Amino acid sequence: MQHRRMASFPPITQNPDIRFLGRLLGDVIRAYGGEKLYRQTEYIRSASVDRARGVAGADLVDTGLDALSLDDTLAFVRGFMLFSMLANLAEDRQGITAEPGADLASAVAALEAHGIAKEAVLALLERALIVPVLTAHPTEVRRKSMIDHKNRIADLMLLMDSGRAETDNGEKIEEAIARQIALLWQTRPLRRERLYVQDEIENVLAYFRDSFLPVLPALYAKWERVLGARPQSFLRVGSWIGGDRDGNPNVQADQLRFALARGCEAAIGHYLDAVHALGAELSVSTELAHVPQAVLDLAERSGDNAPSRKDEPYRRAIAGIYARLCATHLALTGKAAPRPSVLPADPYGDPSALRRDLVIIAQGLASEGDGALATGGALGRLIRAVETFGFHLATLDMRQNSDVHERVVAELLNQAGVEADYGALDEYARIALLRRELSTNRPLGSRFAVYGEETTSELAIVHAAAQAHRTYGSQSITHYIISKAESVSDLLEVNIILKEAGLWRAGTDGASPQAAIMAVPLFETIADLEAAPKVMAAYFGLPEIAAIVTARGHQEVMIGYSDSNKDGGYLTSTWGLHQASKALEPVFAQAGTAIQLFHGRGGAVGRGGGSAFAAIRAQPPGTVQGRIRVTEQGEIIAAKFGTRDVAAVNLEAMTSATLLASLEPEALSDRDAARFATAMDRISHGAFTAYRDLVYGTDGFKEFFRELTPIQEIAGLKIGSRPASRTKSTRIEDLRAIPWVFSWAQARVMLPGWYGVGHALSDFEDKALLADMAATWPFFRSAMANLEMVLAKSDLGIARRYLPLVQDQAAAEGIFGRIADGWSRTHDGLLALTGQSRLLEKNPTLETSIRLRLPYIEPLNLLQIELLKRHRAGEDDPRIKEGIELSINAIATALRNSG
Ligand code: PGA
Repeated sequence: MQHRRMASFPPITQNPDIRFLGRLLGDVIRAYGGEKLYRQTEYIRSASVDRARGVAGADLVDTGLDALSLDDTLAFVRGFMLFSMLANLAEDRQGITAEPGADLASAVAALEAHGIAKEAVLALLERALIVPVLTAHPTEVRRKSMIDHKNRIADLMLLMDSGRAETDNGEKIEEAIARQIALLWQTRPLRRERLYVQDEIENVLAYFRDSFLPVLPALYAKWERVLGARPQSFLRVGSWIGGDRDGNPNVQADQLRFALARGCEAAIGHYLDAVHALGAELSVSTELAHVPQAVLDLAERSGDNAPSRKDEPYRRAIAGIYARLCATHLALTGKAAPRPSVLPADPYGDPSALRRDLVIIAQGLASEGDGALATGGALGRLIRAVETFGFHLATLDMRQNSDVHERVVAELLNQAGVEADYGALDEYARIALLRRELSTNRPLGSRFAVYGEETTSELAIVHAAAQAHRTYGSQSITHYIISKAESVSDLLEVNIILKEAGLWRAGTDGASPQAAIMAVPLFETIADLEAAPKVMAAYFGLPEIAAIVTARGHQEVMIGYSDSNKDGGYLTSTWGLHQASKALEPVFAQAGTAIQLFHGRGGAVGRGGGSAFAAIRAQPPGTVQGRIRVTEQGEIIAAKFGTRDVAAVNLEAMTSATLLASLEPEALSDRDAARFATAMDRISHGAFTAYRDLVYGTDGFKEFFRELTPIQEIAGLKIGSRPASRTKSTRIEDLRAIPWVFSWAQARVMLPGWYGVGHALSDFEDKALLADMAATWPFFRSAMANLEMVLAKSDLGIARRYLPLVQDQAAAEGIFGRIADGWSRTHDGLLALTGQSRLLEKNPTLETSIRLRLPYIEPLNLLQIELLKRHRAGEDDPRIKEGIELSINAIATALRNSG
């Protein structure tokens, strides 16, 4: 072991931040883990680096690993995980600059170059809605405490960048960073207890407090300068946490109430702080400035009669606003504000009443001097925050599975004596029956009926939603997502359930019906995506729905990336989503309403991951129209919104992409669009056939997957409140998409991100056409870029090492051979159509990033395999299970977008 060089920890990168942090980590391992662990770690690391570099004879990584005791193994894995975390941090520091063109000024300039004036941009923004929607999908393996330490290191490094050697407290920055790394080293990375929905709600609140609340108003202020005008508040934030109960029995009415109450507390808490600070700032005296009557009136109404402030009407008015906000806090959350006011006051009835008072102040300030006090600065940002976050903070979506709705409606109809067996009716009979019920305001439910647990819980949650509307306003819940939607009756069933709580009102006496919450279908299999335009056309064809949709001006459709991928493979899913969106556009045009697509995507490529900027821009023409919602999940939330700087960059990229996708003229000629689409149909068909043959048509594939990957162990990770699967079935069809993608990533196969593409590409004769598509078609370019990333992170050499875990070796060899062949074909096909000699040749930043990581992942994979073997052989030392879970965490951290 000793012959290997003992370089400083770790020397394989030019990135000075990584070298710096790696050196400190090495010191920490030595100080806290001991010299022996440090040496072992360093030995394995440098052997792995040599191997990755192709140094001759450097294929003995396992030898170093064999020498590790179980305790050392756990410590080693933690060391490698921390290194990856610190490398991510260093990379993020470089990546804080936006993708080229992904800022609003560039988007406006690009549009102007196409002859699209700023006025058109402003007109679009008046009807726009752009919403990242945060979910608790369980793919974030890191504990919040670890992320917090990491963020503190990032802050300290920023301080160092500014030329400082010491913190404000006189501490040396390098020592402070070393201390944070030592804390990371001593922080348990795995959760001992399961996560509750309440924990997920609290976790996401931190992102609101630290990022969204301060960043959004500041971004708007910047955009107003670019646009020369003040657009309405089109960029908002949504959440699923506390409302998404699809497959999560732990989300019920209590959780919905808790989520909204905590959101309200955070929003009003933010306003209270801001108003308090304004009070300190606005010391304008009537002796030195003219103050308009409206402000004087507001001051008079405040009840603040302190003699010391007699000539300071702004301060008095603000004391009144503060007092009313405190009363609002008490009224809405049941708790006194953290710093209560001494003045008696009535609560605000709604956020617009608060906004009105703030605007009076702003107009007062604007009437003096050049108005600079009013528009820029803290007051302008506060008004923007109130418009954006209201009293509810984030709009909370509801979500449930269509099967559940069907059962609930069946029970309601049965108990009401309307229909004994709803489930036995065909689609036409269902629609007729549901429409009849929707045409009257008489509810189906009775206080005296005794319902089953499911129906009781579902009814309780819609009643909680109706109460939320009364308490926090109608913006608190606007969408109800229907998972596995496939028919018109799926949509009508939700309207029936909403009606039970008064959230659907039948149009009586000639008035139009009203839906206070929009039923939104989520189409998520290949067949359902294909049928989506038909379903929506039929839905819009119902006069009561047409009336609602026309009055609202838009309707949302959600499309699911992960499940369509699991169903039909990467390319067919990507193409199916594109085609469904495209085919929906004329259906919406015919109905005279704007289309609002909601993209349900995760971080991994097999779940729609990749550059959001490129993805939005690659949407088919006519399908964005200024309105878009996109899920943000798991590890992506910390990556995109973990600090203010990155949050600002990502929110601006989303906004710019939406503007470009909505207004930019179509780059492709009709002729190219037609021939590319024909080619894509064929390619997609080829990829679909190959994927389905392997995954659903191969004997023993299910067992192969369950034994090769750590799928069973992943299910035991305590990373989310919802159970890993909806049913006890082990069928791949019934497995949730997240563990499917996650487990393939761990074994480095990453099959959902590429399998089948190679078959389709190699069978497609017109290679020139493929190259043309890759060069000129944003859709295809974006699809190929994501494919390339996932191929570069996969490693079939390592994946092969997992093979002994499969019991039926003969079958395993056969299946693995097909996967390996598919990989080579995909790899070769991709290089051919992009004209490259190696993967990522044209993306040096990503190439460097991945190349730096690989040597750190490989030993983790090898250890994982060993531990899995021992675990499955029945060894019951708890450290083995812990080691497996740690290795899963460490590999996910190193791969970044793996979940
Ligand atoms: P779901 O999400 O299983 O909650 O529908 C799928 C995903 O986001 O991958």
